[in-house]
Amino acid sequence: MEKKKLIAGNWKMNGSLAANEALVRALAAGMGPAGCIAAVCVPAPYLAQLQALRAGSALELGAQDVSAHEQGAYTGELSAAMLKEFGVRYAIVGHSERRQYHGETDALVADKAKAALAHGITPICCVGETLAEREAGKTEEVVKRQLAAVIHTNGHCISEIAVAYEPVWAIGTGKTATPEQAQQVHAVLRAQLKAATPHAERVHILYGGSMNAANAASLLAQPDIDGGLIGGASLKAADFLTIIAAAR
Ligand code: PGA
Repeated sequence: MEKKKLIAGNWKMNGSLAANEALVRALAAGMGPAGCIAAVCVPAPYLAQLQALRAGSALELGAQDVSAHEQGAYTGELSAAMLKEFGVRYAIVGHSERRQYHGETDALVADKAKAALAHGITPICCVGETLAEREAGKTEEVVKRQLAAVIHTNGHCISEIAVAYEPVWAIGTGKTATPEQAQQVHAVLRAQLKAATPHAERVHILYGGSMNAANAASLLAQPDIDGGLIGGASLKAADFLTIIAAAR
């Protein structure tokens, strides 16, 4: 059986108690019978609110980051065990904004993925090249290096992760990779996973970067695009619902 696609919203640092309630109520009302897995990755202070709001709906809950550490003196960090208590099923790790603004390295991202997996949370491991790297012909080299770190640290558990290919130049810019450009990179990532596990087909490889209601269907039609990680368009119920519908 073909696996269901995974559509994950990345709210980033957006939302309020009132806005979240309106958005989630609209999503729950509009989602219908689940043809794909739909999730929202929300700012941590809203996890409890979301846990209550999503009750009875098919909407899954995700976090935007997780600590590589188990517990202890790590001011400001959130452990996988804490996230799990709120029903979190997914945690984004290594988003380019964290790599860029918080100095996250490939090794740290790999450790975060491991911490998530240890608590039954699926890490959505982000990889992607900058515009300069693409123009220098280094796209494959960069994404393979980023994924290799996660594979190296997580060994046979690697079939339990999700991957998000997010070209940095496409994030929040309105510039989307063409379906062909994205598929080319997704195929590279799939091949790399295949070399590491016999269960590589199980892994959701998501595309992210200005995915929206208008372009989702053509991206999702590609053989190795198993879903999307959606920023801006996930904050608008109608747009996110259109993307969810395109993933059936
Ligand atoms: P965008 O963000 O859809 O707003 O480009 C995607 C992401 O950064 O996950």
